[in-house]
Amino acid sequence: MTARRSCLAVILAAGEGTRMRSSLPKVLHAVGGRPMVGHVLAAARSAGADRIALVIGHGADAVRKAVGALPGETEVFVQEERRGTAHAMLQARAALEHGADDVVVLYGDAPLVRPETLERLRARIADGADLVVLGFEAADPTGYGRLLMDGDRLVAIREEKDASAAERAVRLCNSGILAFRGLHVLPLLDAIGNDNAKGEFYLTDVIGLAAAAGLSVGVEIVDEQEVLGVNDRAQLAACEAAFQARARADAFAAGVTMIAPETVFFAYDTVIGRDVVIEPNVVFGPGVVIESGAVVHAFSHLEGARVAGGATVGPFARLRPGADLGTDAKVGNFVEVKAAKVEAGAKISHLSYIGDARVGAGANIGAGTITCNYDGFLKHHTDIGAGAFIGSNSALVAPVAIGDGALVAAGSTIVEDVPADALAVARGRQAVIPGRSAEIRKRLAALKAERKAAKD
Ligand code: UD1
Ligand code: CA
Repeated sequence: MTARRSCLAVILAAGEGTRMRSSLPKVLHAVGGRPMVGHVLAAARSAGADRIALVIGHGADAVRKAVGALPGETEVFVQEERRGTAHAMLQARAALEHGADDVVVLYGDAPLVRPETLERLRARIADGADLVVLGFEAADPTGYGRLLMDGDRLVAIREEKDASAAERAVRLCNSGILAFRGLHVLPLLDAIGNDNAKGEFYLTDVIGLAAAAGLSVGVEIVDEQEVLGVNDRAQLAACEAAFQARARADAFAAGVTMIAPETVFFAYDTVIGRDVVIEPNVVFGPGVVIESGAVVHAFSHLEGARVAGGATVGPFARLRPGADLGTDAKVGNFVEVKAAKVEAGAKISHLSYIGDARVGAGANIGAGTITCNYDGFLKHHTDIGAGAFIGSNSALVAPVAIGDGALVAAGSTIVEDVPADALAVARGRQAVIPGRSAEIRKRLAALKAERKAAKD
């Protein structure tokens, strides 16, 4: 057993993201429902980083704020002037001086890197390497730094602009992600100059420096999809597509059935149990848990919701945050549920809005029932007891409680509590006047004929 190694992750995110043409900082654009930088932070933490330093650009207060709201502690450093990746990293000097066994460098705009990959880099350091670069075979290497090898030894990384024609033909590229044996980081960074085509301090120069100093420098290879970087909206969409492909594969591996997987969209934290069936065109926002054996029918949108086993959702249903469906519950077509507990076996089959409510076990909510939860200022709660039956097209004006086993007549507007097992009827009483319709018809027809005659 070796002692646990400490790890500092440095995430570079000071790029301006000009090509996004956005007022939102680039690393806050979402992939799978979470800001890109959130993915990177999470990967670093799952790979065992005990400290995280994030380098942001001047004026990136929105990034600071967003990261502050995410779980875990992140030290934020500001790079006032964008002078290259090594210069960016040196902005985190205080964190680097604190020291760590392993230092892993990540990019805030490359959100798909897997924790296992970072663990592999760290394992190489633990096994004696001083520096390990994460490389990939690029379909099109244009724009990337090329990994220049001597056998299986990495001797340098050459940036596109500084590369010779022969070097540009190399397809093995630098992802930008790398790991250091901690004690080497500052001496190497401090030795980097800016004598290159861009006049920037290139982090990639550490390779040549380390190799010259006789340190052990290695390469780990990953699939290009895992290190996709985002510079513009098209790349953001490509990154989202790669994320979704991975999420669908994970769902299949977990025992989920999808009829048209390419039309199902997951969030970063979607949890789906075995034998769940997901029909085409379903979108999961953040915070959804679907338990084993539930069915999500076509064209449903779910966010912040839990669906228990045996429950069915949709087609065309919307579950908003706080929707919690118990075992065998049913939420049918054109039903919206928000902040409501729908207990076991309860049914809301058609055309309803149920918000800020509890629907007791086995209750039946008729078509068109609305919980009127909002008075224009405040939200109020509706409580529907177990086994209650709410007739179609009823309005339940909250705050209001319907007792267990109570019956609400169709078309009622309920403003007062209904006790258990009572019948509530709250609508105009029906009057039937025999023959009256025929009389009215006759009178109106005569009137029309009279007016026509006057005109001619
Ligand atoms: C960099 C690498 C290149 C690699 C490529 C992978 C260097 C010199 N080159 O090139 O070898 O193939 O990434 O995508 O490292 N950043 C800052 N401050 C700066 C400059 C950059 O924080 O002053 C951040 C950016 O926000 C970004 C990352 O560092 O997250 C990479 O910067 P970018 O300008 O995209 O580097 P490339 O030129 O693409
Ligand atoms: Ca880039």
